[in-house]
Amino acid sequence: MQSGSAPPADVYRAPVGTHDVLPPESGRWAALVAAFAGRAARFGYGLVMTPAYEHIEVFQRVGEGTDVVRKEMYEFEDKGGRRLALRPEGTAPVVRAYIQHRPTPPWKVWYLSPHFRHEKAQRGRYRQHHQLGVEVLGVDDPALDVEVISLAHGFLTALGLSRFRLAINSLGDDQCRPGYLEALRSYLRAHADELCADSRSRLETNPLRVLDCKVPACVAVTERAPQLLEHLCADCKTHFEAVQAGLDAIGVPHEIAPRLVRGLDYYTRTTFEFASEALESAQNALGGGGRYDKLAEEMGGPPSPGIGFGIGIERVLIACDAEGVLPAPAPHLDAYVVDAVGPEAAAEVTALLAELRETGLSADRAYGGRSVRAQTKAADRAGARYVVLVGRAEMEKGAVAVRDMVSGEQVEVARNRVVTWLHERLDPGIDDIAPEDPGR
Ligand code: HAM
Repeated sequence: MQSGSAPPADVYRAPVGTHDVLPPESGRWAALVAAFAGRAARFGYGLVMTPAYEHIEVFQRVGEGTDVVRKEMYEFEDKGGRRLALRPEGTAPVVRAYIQHRPTPPWKVWYLSPHFRHEKAQRGRYRQHHQLGVEVLGVDDPALDVEVISLAHGFLTALGLSRFRLAINSLGDDQCRPGYLEALRSYLRAHADELCADSRSRLETNPLRVLDCKVPACVAVTERAPQLLEHLCADCKTHFEAVQAGLDAIGVPHEIAPRLVRGLDYYTRTTFEFASEALESAQNALGGGGRYDKLAEEMGGPPSPGIGFGIGIERVLIACDAEGVLPAPAPHLDAYVVDAVGPEAAAEVTALLAELRETGLSADRAYGGRSVRAQTKAADRAGARYVVLVGRAEMEKGAVAVRDMVSGEQVEVARNRVVTWLHERLDPGIDDIAPEDPGR
């Protein structure tokens, strides 16, 4: 580029596969996050925040053979020559934090975080996506699997979603998986010429992933493949049965999906996925997770079983659109202050607005000396319930005019009474207005 010439126009657009989230759409995000945070708190989970990037080794534990690590990671070297990667998934950083800080188990945490994967961007598949997730470390009780799955299931249900299914599987453990992998490998070798090139190359390194291949020829082969559920050792079998019984006990419908292997390598025993019928099949997973009982040890920590899930916010919102639930909230304000006087009333308008806000009402005003008509229109657009008009005649009487934007009725209220007057109408039952108490 020659100096002085303009950069290409698309430099000033969000990069491919990323999105800006603006109001009013962001109102849905806020509602979603608040619902998840409330639910997580009710289940006894605390918020955890980890850095957006980690030493690359943290993510290599996710599985050298996975697309997420092999092809999609945003890796870079910082100015100090460290190899780092933007977080492609949320579990490994939380396990790293658990090992680093050694909190008392069970450690139950939830997160909201952006995740970065260099994917072929399309609807429902982005290069930066956001997950709401939980992780629990230090317990291998199957009742905990039930808690974690039901936390996710209840969250999706409470949003109003109904066209989704919960699939569960068990991937076994160190006892039973190696034998199964051998059986699977020899079956797949015998059918190698029917498999796609990708599956043929995975056959030796990671045969479980072949079960996940969507190419019809591979699906046909794997449908007849030996199933891990038939090879589970007694402990894994007991664990899986307890998870199913627990889900039945609390009425969480689920289907057993013997070919559900998930795209990350750290899973052991229980795995699960919520698939929406309202989404395109290649991107129909609203969320998924499972146990990773060996991950902490593989990362140099003490033996600490773990389980969690991640739910993709963007996909949940697409599913909500398709099912007609969780609309963007309509704009709403309790009050809008309209200035019909101008500079002489500037201090009065500023003080009134501050008083409304500091006593807990949502309130706004227009700036820039606009006409009363324009200010009233703005009040309407902002969804104001009441307009508080500061007019010259009213000011001289120590009053303001208050218009009910629903009934259109307008009354005069003493200036020193107006805040209480509004509170009485907007939150009847609260008779004492005090500055908002954050501990309340
Ligand atoms: P994951 O299945 O890779 O699992 O991702 C979880 C969810 O994030 C997916 O079900 C999907 O909704 C969403 N998601 C993933 N990639 C994208 C993308 N490129 N664009 C849009 N949404 C996407 C994990 O990441 C595990 N850490 C989950 C977990 C937690 N397992 C145990 N604990």
